[in-house]
Amino acid sequence: MINELQHPLVKDLVNRLRSNQTQAEEFKTIIAELSRLLAYNALTTPPLIQSTIDTWQGPAEYSFIKQDDLIFIPIMRAGLPMLSGLSSLFPHSPSGFLAMRRDETTHQAKTYYDRIPECNDKIVVLLDPMVATGGSLNDATTLIKSKNPSKIICLNIIGSREGLDVVESNHADVDIHIAQIDKTLDSNKFIIPGLGDAGDRAFNTPE
Ligand code: PRP
Repeated sequence: MINELQHPLVKDLVNRLRSNQTQAEEFKTIIAELSRLLAYNALTTPPLIQSTIDTWQGPAEYSFIKQDDLIFIPIMRAGLPMLSGLSSLFPHSPSGFLAMRRDETTHQAKTYYDRIPECNDKIVVLLDPMVATGGSLNDATTLIKSKNPSKIICLNIIGSREGLDVVESNHADVDIHIAQIDKTLDSNKFIIPGLGDAGDRAFNTPE
């Protein structure tokens, strides 16, 4: 399932990312804001727990999100600002890390680091701002599936239709929530119109 968010606030934030005037700090802040809006849309039926808390009127039982059952895994580098945006909403959730880099000639994604906590029967939320060919997200999803989570949810900022179709055709059971689907890819497999390279823009490393 692919869900492209349509809210004008989401489109406004995406289009601010497209501007060359948007420097690294603001770029990361907008990515973090968009991540919270994506999570709001994606996590409508999270695992819940009833807890008794002390209130000004004494002990009372209320419902809370069972944060231990949600694991957030950014695909580094560019996924890191998404994780920092979500950590204020989910301060008790575990995080995993998966580092992938696309080879600039073959455009194939290679994993160069992974540190994934126990995922058995947990909901894994994969974070990557960009889906170009879909190779990175596809391979990350395959890897996470081997860890037996109960569900995988992908949060992405911008993607191409063809890249998203690759992921969906291989992983139809995964839910993808994305802020913007753009038209196409260029010959270097960059999203067009897109916003450039999110990792380079977030970390001041122009190619
Ligand atoms: C970018 C982006 C995705 C990937 C998308 O990362 O953040 O992870 O490319 O491309 P794909 O869909 O064709 O696989 P990049 O390899 O530039 O690494 P970075 O995050 O370190 O900048």
